[in-house]
Amino acid sequence: MAVRSLAYIRVETRDVGAWRRFGEEVVGAAATPDSTEDRLMLRLDGRPWRFRIEKGEQEKYLCAGLECPSEETWTAVLDKLDKAGVAVERGDAAMAADRHVRGVASLADPAGNRIELVWGNVVAGTPFVSPVGVPAFVTGEMGFGHVVVPTSCYDDTRRFYKDLLGFGDSDEMRVHFPGGPEQGLGMSFMHASGPRHHTVAVGEFPAPSGLIHTMVEVPSIDDVGLALDRALAAGVHISSTLGRHTNDKMISFYMRTPSGFDIEFGCGGEQTVDWTTVTPTFTIKEDLWGHKWDFGA
Ligand SMILES: [Fe+2]
Repeated sequence: MAVRSLAYIRVETRDVGAWRRFGEEVVGAAATPDSTEDRLMLRLDGRPWRFRIEKGEQEKYLCAGLECPSEETWTAVLDKLDKAGVAVERGDAAMAADRHVRGVASLADPAGNRIELVWGNVVAGTPFVSPVGVPAFVTGEMGFGHVVVPTSCYDDTRRFYKDLLGFGDSDEMRVHFPGGPEQGLGMSFMHASGPRHHTVAVGEFPAPSGLIHTMVEVPSIDDVGLALDRALAAGVHISSTLGRHTNDKMISFYMRTPSGFDIEFGCGGEQTVDWTTVTPTFTIKEDLWGHKWDFGA
């Protein structure tokens, strides 16, 4: 498989200060010392950063950094993308240094979601210390979490991640809601080579901010509960109550970021070491319990 995990996400915002407060005081990520009023890097672990928040004119998710385990794998997948006619912009050394990786290439999936395909396990060299005492984020081999991106061309987008980037099916569902199409809307959850249940999911939903949600994972339910308390105290919109997903078994809640998309904050996500032992599932009930949604304004 070409991709091992989610390395980072980049976000454009009009209000970097709001993101700093949200990122540090609610999520519990750590702003790097070289963050500025125009550019905020948030750490979750031993990597130099996992979120980069960039000052701009809009509230917009910019891209996901998807990580290949080696330069060889990265080169091979870029060749495959070239042969398939996908427009790939190979970054130079300066662009790689800017992303704190060893190699970077920029492209888009068929729905227009931007991807930076990267390789290089760059180590910050200083410990991650959460400003609000989150003991750790569950990352490592699994990367920082997952992204759920929107698509208006569901089948093409699924095929792109599977056939060209080497993702595998973990789960699929059709989401039904009052007034929606009879056949429901598709959601496809795909795993990379790392143990996380899904690193990318695609959903047939609109997302004005460019992202349906991203996810971070913490070690225990108490860490989730403490984050929920911090979010409520800070007046952050809670997009979904606590609940447990049927597919990856994660216990989580969802809250609204300053850029309009949600962060799922959870624990207990299912992990798989050997993907050849797993048969993809089709889920007909999204949650074992909870996850009552409030899409808000
Ligand atoms: Fe999620």
